[in-house]
Amino acid sequence: MIDKKTHMKGEPTDPSTEGSDSNDANISASRTESSGSSSSSPSSSSISNDQPIIELEIQDIEGIGPTTAKKLKEAGIVSVMDLAVTSAEELAVEINASKDSAATFIIAAQKLLRDSKVLEKEFVTADTVLEKRRSMLRCSTGSTALDELLLGGIETQAVTEFYGEFGSGKSQICHTLCAVAKQPVESGGLDSSTIYIDTEGTFRPERIQEIARARGYDPVQVLKSIAICKVYNSSHLELIIKNLGKYVDDFKAKLVIIDSVISLHRAEFAGRGTLADRQQRLNGMLHKIIRLAEIYNIAVVITNQVQSSPDTFFGDPTKAAGGNVLGHASTYRIYLRKSGENRIARMIDSPYHPYSDARFTLNEKGADDLEEEGESKSLSKKAKNSMK
Ligand code: GTP
Ligand code: MG
Repeated sequence: MIDKKTHMKGEPTDPSTEGSDSNDANISASRTESSGSSSSSPSSSSISNDQPIIELEIQDIEGIGPTTAKKLKEAGIVSVMDLAVTSAEELAVEINASKDSAATFIIAAQKLLRDSKVLEKEFVTADTVLEKRRSMLRCSTGSTALDELLLGGIETQAVTEFYGEFGSGKSQICHTLCAVAKQPVESGGLDSSTIYIDTEGTFRPERIQEIARARGYDPVQVLKSIAICKVYNSSHLELIIKNLGKYVDDFKAKLVIIDSVISLHRAEFAGRGTLADRQQRLNGMLHKIIRLAEIYNIAVVITNQVQSSPDTFFGDPTKAAGGNVLGHASTYRIYLRKSGENRIARMIDSPYHPYSDARFTLNEKGADDLEEEGESKSLSKKAKNSMK
């Protein structure tokens, strides 16, 4: 979108990152997985491109001269958009400046984006916001019932979290979403590519192929539209998120999936003593994700695990992992539960959705509606009660 010339160049490498010397090798198009090739350079020719390209340079930002621009570039901040989504704390450390100066640079970058009409003005009237929300895109989950729960599907400019126990369908929803996202907007898609960040090693191109075939999509086009990044440790994930804006630009992605967002941090920061550190790192990463969703107008889907809450006397003792940090990061939270062969989704947290339930199933089409007529809509009273 911005500063295309500089993207994917000069990115820093993190010594704590396993597996590659360059970030460029971190994300690869899915066709390389399916063909077994190790080629890592992204091919934007396979990705539909309808986002505006605006040529803004770091030096165009008020108050930033060549010396600061050089420092920023050395810190991996190569575009105005990169600077606009960085946090002041992070930037201050990276360019060895005070938090106040870092904040000034970020605000100046956001101002330039606003002046260039890339970002909205700081204060806008509610009718303008409503107008903007009308133009917001939604991606179907593959199940009408689940889409209805979400009032039309996964939204851009938002972070949607699916959490639930193993086998509850989180990864299957993610697989279905990336097959649907490639489809035209009229068919419930985003007409775009997807970035799939896989922290659990559960991404399966064969499954995408099956879902695409079962839904009558072109499996070759679908596979070519998915850029996969297999992440091995929490530092690697943080680094990928740090540079995600560039990848979104390069792949022209409107959907970013992180399956799962917490497993690596949870495994690496196991003891009580490390909990504060873990939450702080998760917090930094999640805030970046929210800013990316809003500024880049992308839909972000994250999956989360569950933990048992032994102090619960009434209701379901299962709750989402990650505590308040994760709870505040998600715009919408959906709890998935098994119900025999079927699955129940419940809206747990949202600024405007009713807190209702939906039933769906998992089959060759991925996430899909139940076959029984009438059952694919809202959940029956009996099932509702079983969630309590
Ligand atoms: P964890 O990652 O282990 O926490 O679970 P998850 O919530 O991601 O579960 P996932 O989405 O992988 O769902 C697993 C369930 O999906 C299985 O129990 C099956 O019911 C169903 N499933 C998985 N793969 C297939 C498939 O290829 N075909 C069909 N029909 N169902 C599948
Ligand atoms: Mg999974």
